[in-house]
Amino acid sequence: MRHLIDITDLSPAEINQLIATACDMMARPEAYRGKCAGRQLATLFFEPSTRTRLSFESAMLALGGGVLGFSEASSSSATKGESVADTVRVASGYADIIAMRHPKEGAAAVAAVASEVPVINAGDGGHSHPTQTLTDLLTIYQEKGRLDNLTIGLCGDLKFGRTVHSLIRALSRCENIRFVLISPEELRLPEYIARDLTSYQEESDLEAALPELDILYMTRVQKERFFNEADYLRLKNSYVLDRPKLQYARDDLSVMHPLPRVNEISRQVDDDPRACYFKQAKYGKYIRMALILMLLDLA
Ligand code: NCD
Repeated sequence: MRHLIDITDLSPAEINQLIATACDMMARPEAYRGKCAGRQLATLFFEPSTRTRLSFESAMLALGGGVLGFSEASSSSATKGESVADTVRVASGYADIIAMRHPKEGAAAVAAVASEVPVINAGDGGHSHPTQTLTDLLTIYQEKGRLDNLTIGLCGDLKFGRTVHSLIRALSRCENIRFVLISPEELRLPEYIARDLTSYQEESDLEAALPELDILYMTRVQKERFFNEADYLRLKNSYVLDRPKLQYARDDLSVMHPLPRVNEISRQVDDDPRACYFKQAKYGKYIRMALILMLLDLA
């Protein structure tokens, strides 16, 4: 039985296979319609979500399977004091596969030990978010036709942003990737991730970094992970990508964002051909379809 807790649980070859399957699913959706007939996906979300939960559910429904679950901790027995391990053990008796999001780092690993079915980490605190990374890799592949030889700017909350952590871990296994890490001093990439990187540069000025980028990955300052509101208020508008700033960028830049955005990308940018964050959100459904088939051994 396989789980997806960290993006490195998948080999680079398996990730390429998932991307190829997702591309085929977009081209020939009818070929996959009944693949999960009779199977159930449980979505156990102890933390808010729009895209991740809905794209998981949409993915399972498109494969002909069923979905069950909860979208907030307050409607589960967590409020009565039930442990994650017990909740997951019970849910694994009702479903064939589980996608779980939890505010605590490491919760997904605990769930995998307790579960009788495959567990997918849909985000564990400020730690990691491997299915967002699969979505991001599919987006990069669609935009650039490759996952190597790229200069990628990651901008915003690199400290608490779990999507950034997982994406960096995945891309650091690809050839000739240069990371430009753009953040305020207080929100720099944690040392435990930075130490595995061979080529990166830290930068505090977005305009200065923009001209050389193939991809700009913007992120939200993660309000819910701050210990005090004053720090959040001081840092929340550190970077705002708007039309004037985009003049510094190349014509073939791709602007990505896992969403939700707050202020970090101005709405004026949405109509720019370089903006691809809404496409990115759509790709999330197809890569999750491919992942569900792989983990259920139905691919
Ligand atoms: C991200 C997350 O939950 O980490 N959202 C998502 O899954 N698309 C990013 C964020 O919340 O800022």
